[in-house]
Amino acid sequence: MPNFRTLDDLNARGKRVLVRLDLNLPIQNGQITDLSRLERSLPTLKELSSQGAKVIVMAHLGRPQGEDKSLTIAPIAQALAKSMAPMPVRFCETSQGPLVEKAIDALHNGEILLLENIRFVEGEEKNDPVFAREMAQWGDIYVNDAFSTAHRAHVSTEGIAHFLPSYAGRLMEEELRALDRALGNPKRPLMAIVGGAKISTKLPLLENLLSKVDILVIGGAMANTFLAAKGYNIGASLFEHDLLETARSLLAKAPEIILPEDVVVARNLEDQRSIETLFIPEVAGDQKIFDIGPLTCQHILKKMKTCHTLLWNGPFGVFETPPFDKGTTTVAKGAAQLTREGSLLSVAGGGDTVAALIQAGVVDDFSYVSTAGGAFLEWLEGKTLPGVEALSSSDSIREKMFENNK
Ligand code: 3PG
Repeated sequence: MPNFRTLDDLNARGKRVLVRLDLNLPIQNGQITDLSRLERSLPTLKELSSQGAKVIVMAHLGRPQGEDKSLTIAPIAQALAKSMAPMPVRFCETSQGPLVEKAIDALHNGEILLLENIRFVEGEEKNDPVFAREMAQWGDIYVNDAFSTAHRAHVSTEGIAHFLPSYAGRLMEEELRALDRALGNPKRPLMAIVGGAKISTKLPLLENLLSKVDILVIGGAMANTFLAAKGYNIGASLFEHDLLETARSLLAKAPEIILPEDVVVARNLEDQRSIETLFIPEVAGDQKIFDIGPLTCQHILKKMKTCHTLLWNGPFGVFETPPFDKGTTTVAKGAAQLTREGSLLSVAGGGDTVAALIQAGVVDDFSYVSTAGGAFLEWLEGKTLPGVEALSSSDSIREKMFENNK
């Protein structure tokens, strides 16, 4: 668990506090479709504002290449103002230059200012020290509350921490503590469920988990490659031919591994009449595997009952297309029940996984559901996240800079 300072170590009254949030919310046809990330950022904002800080929020939306007004953060500013009411939220239509300074100078204690999409500034994603110096003039203190962007070494997520006293916000703190309980320092036995389409995109993650977990459950189309590597006929199912050897060597290193024993197959997703539940050796011809079967679910849940910690990334089947959601839903409900009973600490993350848990109606029953996508995956891979690293080492870096300047 990295060492970092939190809001508990901070008296922000009258101070200008630069806060990095992840307000990268999904927007369809101009409408925000999920406010979770914004809602989970509110505790830090409310705490700072009620302490009397002048709060300057930096956030991004999408991946603009330079200034792209179609990715203005203005709709998010409106949603933020609504959630923070009656605390006032102002919006600054730019994220660099004298207008930002003017908007900050006009702030009163307790007020919040959201800057325009920080990725509109050219130096942001380049982690340009010139922009970091400019940003450092805007505030007295930096708070990073965006774990889900901590895998990016950008000015607002990493570079700025080299220039200002830096603190973790409440959400960052919560994420890091939950992830530490799940993989850093877990109560064993520890089960990990890894699903998804391809081994190729999850190789570093699988390698890292294999050395840390007690039971590894493989789901999704990626399980097909493992089944094929074991010599099973998987019909016309999706698999990665060039990774059979890799799958074999992963299997050889695995602790206890659970692969599907029975599966739900069909000729294609739309052909409901061709759906069958079969044991693996029965799969043949033009059949494609789209979900795990009931015996596999039972086996996973029986093993899960013997575990104290569960880490979940990736659904089992094509959960967006019923009835191929059944495997994921059954296992998710079982995990939720064990969590409610107090015998299991369950931590899940990744966009698809969260969507599957919401669909199964159990997202609130899990011990912790991460707001992060890419950052959660990189953390599962065992990588050091630059945004987290900068928080824990920023003091020593600043001390070094001070020494060098003497
Ligand atoms: C996310 O949506 O995972 C974060 O906001 C990071 O976005 P990015 O992948 O564009 O850096």
